[in-house]
Amino acid sequence: MERVPIAGVGMTKFGKQGQRTSRELFGEAAGKAFEDAGLSPDDVDEVFFGNFMGELAEQQGHSGPLAADAAGVTAPATRIESACASSGAAVRHGVNRIRNGDVDVVLVGGAERMTNLSTAEGTAGLAAAADALWEIKSGITFPGAYSLMANRYFHEHGGSREDLAEIAVKNHEHAVENELAQFQRAITVEDVVEAPTVCSPFGLYDCSPMSDGGSAALLVSEEFAEDHGLGPEVAITGTGQNGDRLALQDRVSMTRTPAAERAAEQAYEDAGIGPDDIDVAEVHDCFTIAEALALEALGLYEEGEAIHAATNGETSAGGELPVNLSGGLKAKGHPVGATGGAQISELTKILRGDHVNSDAVSDAEVGITHNAGGTVASCVVNVLEVIA
Ligand code: COA
Repeated sequence: MERVPIAGVGMTKFGKQGQRTSRELFGEAAGKAFEDAGLSPDDVDEVFFGNFMGELAEQQGHSGPLAADAAGVTAPATRIESACASSGAAVRHGVNRIRNGDVDVVLVGGAERMTNLSTAEGTAGLAAAADALWEIKSGITFPGAYSLMANRYFHEHGGSREDLAEIAVKNHEHAVENELAQFQRAITVEDVVEAPTVCSPFGLYDCSPMSDGGSAALLVSEEFAEDHGLGPEVAITGTGQNGDRLALQDRVSMTRTPAAERAAEQAYEDAGIGPDDIDVAEVHDCFTIAEALALEALGLYEEGEAIHAATNGETSAGGELPVNLSGGLKAKGHPVGATGGAQISELTKILRGDHVNSDAVSDAEVGITHNAGGTVASCVVNVLEVIA
């Protein structure tokens, strides 16, 4: 299918942002994207904005037009909500609108404010992405749900507590030089294993944090890019989205994520490539086990094998397939509605060569993003390729 050039990207620093609202955060990210693209708000035909818990954290709904306003844009604007996959889905909506020939310039991305809530409030708010009738009433939280998946993975495939820890160590290491990351701090396997338990087998460092942040990207049609002499270097060449039953107990397997498998198949077919073509990946490591599940769903590892990837050094900056060079959700941070857009922003820069970790993949031509909602009841996968 037609490729959709990424004219510009931007994101805020992720982490604690004090009194800043999500509209301010998106405004900053969008401003950076306009500067990066050499475009102005007047060029934008439509906006898709990802946000998950605005009603809880900011008493704010109807945030599509609000986000557009913060970006200085007057155009149709819609909020897209798919839990932690909200802005991945916003990106996909933008791609589809351009491919349909309906519009030429779409501003996509998202924002979330979380750290104004207590951890208990944030945990309860995030749990709304699970099945309210069955899971939440049983006391499920997201650290709890993913820890069930981790324990089941150990039971079915093996792997160790230390293998999980290596994933966190790698992603913290990748974030050290990334000034936009929440935690620019290296950690050791001992730090991870000895940290306070959140929900066994997870300790503090197996979890992504609560974060504030915004992300944005400007997607354009090829004709618009050519007519305006933009010369974008990276395009989205494949996109896929799929879903699964919301509640873990309704799934056939707790160690496979079919929503991601199907989204990946669709994105690969759309781009005309396969898993062997991928040079670099940004995946949804909301908990350490989630990175292993993502790599298997994307077909980058066989079932039961990705748990050892970080331990073997295969997915680190110097490895065969660097994963989460941005620091991932674990260390870059996870303001949920902004995360999918941030994956696009970071991967675009990594592929263009202007990310602080670009040197780790200087010959990279093809990258993939994997953005999941809930326990992967929704998933968006996008393929990005160097086009110039
Ligand atoms: N990784 C590393 N450090 C973290 C961290 C994390 N995930 N979360 C908090 N910290 C650090 C803080 O920076 C702080 O350090 P400091 O004292 O040096 O400033 C310290 O740990 C305590 O922070 P606090 O916010 O009090 O932690 P907490 O115990 O209240 O919460 C978690 C920690 C892991 C429970 C919380 O981050 C969490 O719930 N994460 C999961 C979020 C989630 O479910 N997202 C959706 C995924 S689907």
